[in-house]
Amino acid sequence: MMNFTNSLIQWYLREKRDLPWRKTSNPYPIWLSEIMLQQTRVAQGLPYFLRFTEAFPTVFDLAAADEEQVLKLWQGLGYYSRARNLHATAKVIAFDLNGKFPGTYKGLLQLKGVGEYTAAAIASIAYGEAVPVVDGNVYRVLSRYFDVETDISSAAAKKEFFELAASLLPKGKASEFNQAMMEFGALQCVPKNPDCGNCIFNGSCLALKNKKVDTLPVKRKK
Ligand code: ADE
Repeated sequence: MMNFTNSLIQWYLREKRDLPWRKTSNPYPIWLSEIMLQQTRVAQGLPYFLRFTEAFPTVFDLAAADEEQVLKLWQGLGYYSRARNLHATAKVIAFDLNGKFPGTYKGLLQLKGVGEYTAAAIASIAYGEAVPVVDGNVYRVLSRYFDVETDISSAAAKKEFFELAASLLPKGKASEFNQAMMEFGALQCVPKNPDCGNCIFNGSCLALKNKKVDTLPVKRKK
């Protein structure tokens, strides 16, 4: 019997999609991908990511671009404040920080458009910093596996799930673990009609055992 973390990482190494931002530890493309993938699916974001990195291979190229060109390449992705923040942040990094991204979670949090989720994703994936990502995927996977009924729209939820995820994070493998959580939520433990019969956790998931897969995570207000 293997525990949650080890099973999840083994699943990830077997099933992960071949994505361009998974072949690098350069924070620039990792940051770009994380901003683009907020409220956006990989299938939709990927062509934008490829066009963006082609047009702006480095943070200096993005910083030097006209806002108009940046917004044009963003066209169709929506949430245009993301593009404006991206451009403003590229200028700060290129011109104020000599092209160097902040090297820690705390430092990354200071950047415009980079919240707790994005800072944790960049710090863990680019630097291996031991900080868990907490997003909708993580709420769903953990609430189901451990049968956690905390309302994910409540103030207490973020802290509770952050601490649960932190307790599961394996030493030296923050990048794999966080991406495995995202990938598992995207491919297997999906919101509607997950294929629990074909899940690595079908013998250990408490939501499945307790017939609560369809009611977890709990989300009361909206
Ligand atoms: N969604 C948000 N970040 C992601 C990542 N790094 N890989 C796949 N999907 C994601």
